Amino acid sequence: MPSNIHTSHRMVFLLPASIYIVLVVVIAILPAMSASTEEKALEVPPVTPLAAWGRELYREKYNCVVCHTQQIRGDVRRRNEVDGSVPVLAADARFGLEGPTTAEEYAHQEAPMLGTQRTGPDLMSIGIRMPSRQWHYWHLYKPQSVSPDSTMEAYPYLFSSEKPKAVGDAVPEKVELIEGLGYDGDELWATPEAVAIVEYLLSLDRPLARKNR
Ligand code: HEC
Repeated sequence: MPSNIHTSHRMVFLLPASIYIVLVVVIAILPAMSASTEEKALEVPPVTPLAAWGRELYREKYNCVVCHTQQIRGDVRRRNEVDGSVPVLAADARFGLEGPTTAEEYAHQEAPMLGTQRTGPDLMSIGIRMPSRQWHYWHLYKPQSVSPDSTMEAYPYLFSSEKPKAVGDAVPEKVELIEGLGYDGDELWATPEAVAIVEYLLSLDRPLARKNR
């Protein structure tokens, strides 16, 4: 008698088992393998302990993640028919963001902070757009000192008039005093927390592909 799915015990077992194995390979194993090779190809640098601390402060203590996203959006309606590339959505392009973020750029970001609110600009490439540490200190101390129309809140408590103690790699840094800060003391120091947050911001230097890493 020819084997029949309705009558053969072997077929009743083998058919669903092989479908299951094929699905596991296609849905889980192949995508995982290609994701790990893409990450390797881009050589995404690991996050340093200092930047990792900054990321924790950014996410949990100072809630920067509430107002900022880290996902530069593409405008699929304007996709280039020839090469398939997608331009940046106009709302993100106004901050000089070039090229939508891609999945592999989130490598080592163990909790990708895509964000929800775009109250402030997307920060995924802030390390490229604003590479100056001093600028970030001025901006955190008083955002309006460098972005006059900014509605971002100030974080003066991340700074101190006396030199604070270092915490691990987070060595306090002296802030150059500019007029816009409205600070009349002699010295202003970025605390270890401010140093860590800025280290994290500078590590956000996507898109990686553009940097030819
Ligand atoms: C209440 C909302 C809000 C919070 C909270 C917030 N920001 Fe902002 N942020 C803004 C706005 C609004 C701007 C400026 C937009 C503009 O200049 O048009 C901005 C600008 C910035 C910029 C400059 C970006 C650029 O392209 O010019 C950086 C960097 C930044 N914020 C970092 C942070 C960090 C770090 C924290 C947490 C310590 C934080 N922000 C918390 C709203 C916020």
